[in-house]
Amino acid sequence: DARLRVLSGIQPTADSFHLGNYLGAVRQWVRLQDTHDTFYMVVDLHAITVEQDPKVLRERTRASAAQLLALGVDPDRSALFVQSQVPEHAQLCWVLQCLTGFGEASRMTQFKDKATKQGTDRASVGLFTYPILQAADILVYQANAVPVGEDQRQHLELSRNLAQRFNHRFGKTFVVPEPYIVADTAKIFDLQDPESKMSKSASSQNGLIELLDDPKRSAKKIRSAVTDTGREIVFDPEHKAGVSNLLTIYSALAGRSTAELEAAYSDKGYGDLKKDLAEVLVQFVTPFQERVRSYLDDVAELDKVLARGAERARAVASETLSLVYDRIGF
Ligand code: ADP
Ligand code: NA
Repeated sequence: DARLRVLSGIQPTADSFHLGNYLGAVRQWVRLQDTHDTFYMVVDLHAITVEQDPKVLRERTRASAAQLLALGVDPDRSALFVQSQVPEHAQLCWVLQCLTGFGEASRMTQFKDKATKQGTDRASVGLFTYPILQAADILVYQANAVPVGEDQRQHLELSRNLAQRFNHRFGKTFVVPEPYIVADTAKIFDLQDPESKMSKSASSQNGLIELLDDPKRSAKKIRSAVTDTGREIVFDPEHKAGVSNLLTIYSALAGRSTAELEAAYSDKGYGDLKKDLAEVLVQFVTPFQERVRSYLDDVAELDKVLARGAERARAVASETLSLVYDRIGF
């Protein structure tokens, strides 16, 4: 396979994906299948860096996989798997931890943010070494490209440094991964607070659209989205964050450019825009939810799909790990 290899993952830490996860990540995963050799995983090892209930974690892991499939990740074209089913992630992680300086790990700002929220003494060591596991995730597949948002840049930089350090010390072993800025990645903002990004940890649940939520409730959230006091429907994220966010979502879901939408709504009001977008959203989530249900109705088959994905992933990961072990003298 001469195509560049891409790797990405999503945490099973919510009952449903939200609109930001889809428009900012998964939609691009689906498209990359046309051009790249794609590896996509549900990162359950990362999920236990904070406390998880075993039953809930198992359900969310399956639900995440079902949602990826329902959104268009094709298990015949992509390796779709659950991280804990490929032991090489944890094995390579240990090797990389021994190559990472304590100070270097301490400089990861995302740990500082998250640990501060929990209280630094209570935060797990796993949360601290999370970026090193992320490096292992990437390097074990010799991935060339990693789709990253701004908040992940520092972690990818660590992966690159570790790959280069290992190669320098033990001989060329790892591909040094490049950040991959995917065209057309939308950043989605909170409907009630359009200055902040839409997130599962948002303070107001009314600003969050979860794909598995009751479509009627999501439609209502769209109709009550915060907009500014003007009347014109124009795409101007700096001055009209709320309206621009709605246009971004509309554009992505309906496959119409924001310019096209501006023209279509030039003599209409915010109410019309919201009403139509609510309808577009319902049309999108209704068949999506049916597909998710059908995957979750046959858990045995879903588990088989994931086992095949893990096998495919292990074929690559075990090869990398043997080489690494050999290089370091095991
Ligand atoms: P959350 O921010 O809700 O905790 P995650 O951090 O689990 O979501 O994100 C999973 C993926 O979804 C990441 O690739 C992330 O960049 C993307 N993502 C999350 N929220 C948004 C958003 N509001 N807009 C665009 N992409 C997003
Ligand atoms: Na996040």
